[in-house]
Amino acid sequence: MGGTESIYGDHLPQLEEAMRYLTDEISVLRGQIKEKEGMDPVEHCLSRIKSEESMREKCRRKGLPETTESALEIIHDAVGVRVVCAFINDVFAVRDYIAQLPQVEVIQEKDYIRHVKPNGYRSYHMILKVQQGVFAEVQLRTISMDTWAALEHHMKYKKKVDGNNDLIVAELKRCADELASTDISMQTIKDMIMTTE
Ligand code: GTP
Ligand code: MG
Repeated sequence: MGGTESIYGDHLPQLEEAMRYLTDEISVLRGQIKEKEGMDPVEHCLSRIKSEESMREKCRRKGLPETTESALEIIHDAVGVRVVCAFINDVFAVRDYIAQLPQVEVIQEKDYIRHVKPNGYRSYHMILKVQQGVFAEVQLRTISMDTWAALEHHMKYKKKVDGNNDLIVAELKRCADELASTDISMQTIKDMIMTTE
């Protein structure tokens, strides 16, 4: 195999199509909810196909050969979609909508909202099989969760934040928990506004 050949073989169009299917469906849902409730449940939605380089790096990290099979069958996030919602309830509404899509089979779900990671990371992850062939990872989170994840990610690369810096680890966790409690308050405020309207 030549070094210039894509790790995705000739499957890039399928990956793009699956990604497009998911983002189009999320747009449909946004339109429906906006019409019904007057509010867009999604703050923003990002999607990407994992770059050649990071897919190869992930194969190496996982001890997998750098093959198309590893990239498409063993690793499940060649297609990634991140849906950032305003409120917590919206996260679960989007989750329910995605789970019932005709061209989607839910392979695995990780609820890091109810089962928070020890470092404070919160998000709802879905591994999907889309259009009967392509795997995709969908990450659903609130704006607060997204803010924390972005900052934590940033700092991870700035300096090794690992188990041996107890103060930093504890402070990051505290920020995550404070943001989570704000999310609950904001949801309560929204519900109050909606019922008094
Ligand atoms: P990989 O991380 O993809 O090897 O698989 P995994 O089995 O650990 O999956 P998991 O669902 O835990 O994480 C997948 C993705 O979620 C990561 O690539 C990140 O984008 C995000 N994520 C998970 N944990 C964290 C975290 O502690 N901090 C941040 N910032 N992002 C995280
Ligand atoms: Mg991980």
